[in-house]
Amino acid sequence: MLAVLFVVGTLCPLNFAALDISLLDPRSDGVLTAIFSDAFLLRFPNCTTYGDKKAEVLYQILKTDQNQTASFTVPNCNDKQASRGYLLNKLQNGTSYSVWYKIGDETSSNLTNSTIPVTNFSQINDGLPARSGAMVVITVILAVAMVVLLAGLIFLMFFSG
Ligand SMILES: *[C@@H]1O[C@H](CO)[C@@H](O)[C@H](O)[C@H]1NC(C)=O
Ligand SMILES: *[C@@H]1O[C@H](CO)[C@@H](O)[C@H](O)[C@H]1NC(C)=O
Ligand SMILES: *[C@@H]1O[C@H](CO)[C@@H](O)[C@H](O)[C@H]1NC(C)=O
Ligand SMILES: *[C@@H]1O[C@H](CO)[C@@H](O)[C@H](O)[C@H]1NC(C)=O
Ligand SMILES: *[C@@H]1O[C@H](CO)[C@@H](O)[C@H](O)[C@H]1NC(C)=O
Ligand SMILES: *[C@@H]1O[C@H](CO)[C@@H](O)[C@H](O)[C@H]1NC(C)=O
Repeated sequence: MLAVLFVVGTLCPLNFAALDISLLDPRSDGVLTAIFSDAFLLRFPNCTTYGDKKAEVLYQILKTDQNQTASFTVPNCNDKQASRGYLLNKLQNGTSYSVWYKIGDETSSNLTNSTIPVTNFSQINDGLPARSGAMVVITVILAVAMVVLLAGLIFLMFFSG
C-alpha cells in the first residue's frame, strides 16, 4: 500500500504538469518588453515535457469568435540557440487579445492582454496648442529689447572711442 502511494505520489506531479502560457517577464527573462504594438512575446511551453513537439498558438481579438492559429515546434532543453520566447506578431495595435496554446490534446489556460496603441501622426500634430497670445507678446518684447541693446552698443562704439 505504501509502495503504491509512493509511486502515485511521484508520478502525479509529472502527469499533471499543466500546459502553461505566459508572457516573458522583463524583470527576470532579460527582455526589454513582452508587449509590442503588434506582437506578444510568449514563454515557450516547458521544454522537459513538450520539447520538440508541435505546438499551436490560438489567438483571437477579445469578444470576437474568429480565432487565428500559428504553429511552431517547442525547442528542446538542449537547444541553447533557441530564443527565449515565441513572438506572436501581426497583431493589431491597442487591441485586447485572448491567447492560448494547444499541444496534442492539451490546451492551456487563456492569456488575456492588450497590444500597445499606436498614435496616428496626424493626431499627434492635432494635440499641439496654437501659439498663444502671451507668447507673441513676450517674443515682441524680447525682439524690441534686442534692437535697443544693439543700438546702444553701436552708439557706444561710435562715441566712446
Ligand atoms: C518543466 O517541468 C519539469 C517537470 O514537470 C519541472 O521539473 C521543471 O521545473 C519545469 N521547468 C520549468 C522551466 O518550469
Ligand atoms: C477556432 O476556430 C475554428 C473555426 O472558427 C473552430 O473550428 C475551432 O474549434 C476553434 N478552436 C478553438 C480552440 O476554439
Ligand atoms: C492602430 O490601430 C488602429 C485601430 O485599430 C488603426 O486604425 C491604425 O491603422 C493602427 N495603426 C497602425 C500603425 O497599425
Ligand atoms: C479563451 O477565450 C476565448 C474567448 O475570449 C474562447 O473563445 C476560447 O475558447 C478560450 N480558450 C480556452 C482554452 O479557454
Ligand atoms: C499584461 O501584461 C503586463 C506585463 O506582463 C501585466 O503587468 C498586466 O497585468 C497584464 N494585463 C492583464 C490585463 O493581464
Ligand atoms: C491617421 O488618421 C487619418 C485621419 O484621422 C487617417 O486618414 C489615416 O488613415 C490614419 N492613419 C493611420 C495609420 O491610422
